[in-house]
Amino acid sequence: MLVSAKEMLEKAVEGHYAVGQFNINNLEWTKAVLNAAEEMKSPVILGVSEGAGKYMTGFKTVAAMVEAMMGELGTTVPVALHLDHGTYEGSYKCIEAGFSSIMFDGSKYPIEENVAKTKELIEVCNKKGISLEAEVGSIGGEEDGVIGQGECADPNECKQIADLGVTMLAAGIGNIHGKYPANWAGLSFETLDAIQKLTGKLPLVLHGGTGIPDDMIKKAIDLGVAKINVNTECQLSFADATRKYIEAGKDQEGKGYDPRKLLKPGYEAIIETVKEKMELFGSVGKA
Ligand code: G3H
Ligand code: ZN
Repeated sequence: MLVSAKEMLEKAVEGHYAVGQFNINNLEWTKAVLNAAEEMKSPVILGVSEGAGKYMTGFKTVAAMVEAMMGELGTTVPVALHLDHGTYEGSYKCIEAGFSSIMFDGSKYPIEENVAKTKELIEVCNKKGISLEAEVGSIGGEEDGVIGQGECADPNECKQIADLGVTMLAAGIGNIHGKYPANWAGLSFETLDAIQKLTGKLPLVLHGGTGIPDDMIKKAIDLGVAKINVNTECQLSFADATRKYIEAGKDQEGKGYDPRKLLKPGYEAIIETVKEKMELFGSVGKA
């Protein structure tokens, strides 16, 4: 059964580790993340962007697939199905579809509007036991059509949103979606520290988890980050492994073009990437 992300993230704050959010795109992706989490005995959050939801034909299909798969795999670890960077309309669609966690990304709105919309969604989510993530500041780069300027969050605005009763808060701290440029200035720990001082034990979320050096990840966890989002890194692992399989001509021999064979190296590569991240985030054995 899907669970809200609340309890797993509160435990992560107490235990000084982070739970990974891994974005899913299809059946193979979902199965890879669920199997990795079960093997590592780690709680996990399956992230679904609006674009990925559309690709999988809709949020109801996604929720039904995940629930059925968990049942047939016999998943025992806590799993939250989470809308990633949701719009106001998309948030309502996912609540209706049976998601157990929502991110309403109101960072593109003026703070008053972000506060008003987040507040309204918290009330709806609370009634249904669904966790809610909000965003302040913005994450640089682009993810599935969501483009951010990358401005660091104002800690006082973070407190304003935190005080509404959100389950978790994503704040822009110099993090970027996708690959980091060579001249990247790094995470702003000064901003993160100021946010944590004002928001106490509220689980903080680090987006753009791909390519952040390990020491920065660990420092961010020390400063209250309890959820780390990873998307691009699984895509790179999948693409790399698939490319190698095809370049080696394996798709030609022994019916290697059978999609179940063709997609297997990529599927296995995602499992390895997810397991590595779980080790790094410290969530192994925490289920
Ligand atoms: O919302 C999802 C993430 O922030 C993932 O970022 O693609 O850079 O790993 P990433
Ligand atoms: Zn993100």
